[in-house]
Amino acid sequence: MKKILFPALLIIVSVYSRAQDAKMDAFINSLMSKMTVDEKIGQLNLVTPGGAVTGSVVSKDVDDKIRKGQVGGLFGITGPDKVRQAQDIAVKNSRLHIPLIFGLDVIHGHRTIFPIPLGLSCSWDTALIRRSAGIAADEATADGLNWAFSPMVDIARDPRWGRISEGSGEDPFLGSQIAASMVKGYQGSDYKSTHTLMACVKHFALYGAAEAGRDYNTVDMSRIRMYEYYLPPYKAAVDAGVGSVMSSFNEIDAVPATGNKWLLTDLLRKQWGFKGLVVSDYTSVSEMINHGMGDIQTVSTLALNAGLDMDMVSEGMLNTVKKSLAEGKTTQKQIDDACRRILEAKYKLGLFDDPYRYMDNSRPGKEILTASTRKAAREIAVHAFVLLKNDNQLLPLKRSGTIALVGPLADSKRNMLGTWSVSGDPDKSVSLREGIGNVAGDVNIIYAKGANISDDPMLVKRTNVFGPEITVDTRTPSDMIKEAVDAANKADVVVAALGEAADMTGEASSRSDISIPESQENLLKALLQTGKPVVLVLFNGRPLTLTYEDGHVPAILDAWFAGTEAGNAIADVLFGNYNPSGKITASFPRSVGQIPVYYNHKHTGRPYNGEDNAKFKSDYLDVANDPLYPFGYGLSYTNFSYSDVKLNKTSLKGNEPLMATVTVTNTGKYAGEETVQLYISDPVASVTRSVEDLKGFQKVMLQPGQSKDVTFTITTNELKFYNSDLKYDWEAGQFFVRIGTNSRDVKSAEINWAK
Ligand code: NOJ
Repeated sequence: MKKILFPALLIIVSVYSRAQDAKMDAFINSLMSKMTVDEKIGQLNLVTPGGAVTGSVVSKDVDDKIRKGQVGGLFGITGPDKVRQAQDIAVKNSRLHIPLIFGLDVIHGHRTIFPIPLGLSCSWDTALIRRSAGIAADEATADGLNWAFSPMVDIARDPRWGRISEGSGEDPFLGSQIAASMVKGYQGSDYKSTHTLMACVKHFALYGAAEAGRDYNTVDMSRIRMYEYYLPPYKAAVDAGVGSVMSSFNEIDAVPATGNKWLLTDLLRKQWGFKGLVVSDYTSVSEMINHGMGDIQTVSTLALNAGLDMDMVSEGMLNTVKKSLAEGKTTQKQIDDACRRILEAKYKLGLFDDPYRYMDNSRPGKEILTASTRKAAREIAVHAFVLLKNDNQLLPLKRSGTIALVGPLADSKRNMLGTWSVSGDPDKSVSLREGIGNVAGDVNIIYAKGANISDDPMLVKRTNVFGPEITVDTRTPSDMIKEAVDAANKADVVVAALGEAADMTGEASSRSDISIPESQENLLKALLQTGKPVVLVLFNGRPLTLTYEDGHVPAILDAWFAGTEAGNAIADVLFGNYNPSGKITASFPRSVGQIPVYYNHKHTGRPYNGEDNAKFKSDYLDVANDPLYPFGYGLSYTNFSYSDVKLNKTSLKGNEPLMATVTVTNTGKYAGEETVQLYISDPVASVTRSVEDLKGFQKVMLQPGQSKDVTFTITTNELKFYNSDLKYDWEAGQFFVRIGTNSRDVKSAEINWAK
């Protein structure tokens, strides 16, 4: 019965969706037949009246332009009333009454803020991440919005780059799964519901590979690396049905992405079949002038002809495309195609049925930052934390005795939200001090700030652009440290809340030194000298260099920036209400000089294998090759042991599947969740391959003493890679199946797979 029903259902769905498409086409054809060229070009214009945006210029005369039909969409405003005011002008006062779309950077939550994306990715929990995006969509649509500039899926191997915080780290397999789940979380099954919105995958493409980790810098990359490692998450978002794509600031093969026809048309639309709209990043059209691609007319035409539909803030399209049409530099079809894709997005959002459908004044009070969204934020946040070290089971803390809570991030609400939380209210977030107060019970807490986040006036000034994240104490550093040491001397244990201010990562926040700032290092050293056990709770938007901390501090919990409920969630983990299970998704280097250091690197012809007095090997004189903490690493309050890998076969042929099983046992005292990771290594191929690639993972919850078999089904799909002809295929031969607790600590089994 099922066998008949399923195909029948598919046929019904496809007939229905074709009928819907035909209805949409007829509507848009009729509308476009009434539009002048100017009105069509007007749709390509995305403006912002300022506010929650990141760019150095804001649009002028916005109301007037809307009235004249010179605006297709608007971003940077929130609230049903404000959005309604703008929509009113478009719908009531423009000639064709075409509604606007309203976008915003909804990145890791809207009003209820979740952990920064890099932190969320450490949960390896796609259902949880999808849930966070769903809540963000609920809140954002209640706030009048229908377009989120998210997910950001740029692969990043360079922690100097501040925007590593906004993505899911260094791995394309995990990154792709997260990209797809975020799109589904935002858009639901389609985005016609007033509780879902259109997602926008960004920054297409390769933005995370900026040279030297400096934001907005040049990118140069081979096609094989691009296809194998950097493009998959964007493709996964497209396959998940993302409605829009944002082009990136960087160049690709010496042509900026925003004007790159190969990227926006040949790859995105022709190879991947993307049908939605492509918007530029903020002024990335006019920035092509600085890239050396010509004047504003030339770059705007370049972008349009390359396949860009909407120009964010540059207004180059608005002001020059008509001239280019008259001069034969672009075509009416090019303008029509771009305009049509924007109108289609509006149609799919239901805006032609009701332009005010996202502007329901009764919703914000009921749906934004409620007890239930806060509860979800707390539940989600605990999964993001990564236990980097826990000597002698210092954690979880006991709910008795005295704790010295020390550090410039211990009593900060503002920094809890993390970068790019434009609609989050720092006053509504929970500081660590408050969280510990809520969770610790009968514990005596002595608080001391101990140090400023940084004493470097330039860093303070540049970090505080969006508000006072680094508050500078007027006391001397030694007075502050003394107060903290006195507190430590009176305590049984010290909790030191140290790290970065929220906006020391994020856009335009690259750092060349990614250690904990000196003022705080001095504090940490003084605390360690007291001889009291120190738990370091780390706040950071990127992997930091922690060689000193790893060598000296007994327990380190990486809390990233965990959002609105940060303090409660961290306290939940510190006191054992939740056993941490996060695993890092970007390698932590030992020193900046190792960067880029990432797990899926290539072999070299002169590998260094730890030999004494090695010469002429690929290594450093002054530091090891491997990272301090490898990709996939993260501890638990309990321990997990892994059996050897058991295979159903060691020789395979063609399409038969391989089953690889490990038995994982909880050998410790606490119940805990483990993320079991599958890597595959292909030692000989027609092109050089990485040492290993993540090809699967499963999360298992185990009670103390409990064992579970975890089985991965591996097919030839998992063996595929891009060869010199950019063909995605597998080659017969030997492979290693590696399963373990992180990318370094794995059990390995050999197989042979014939064609
Ligand atoms: C520039 C950023 O690169 C992008 O991520 C963001 O969506 C826009 N500004 C709009 O704020």
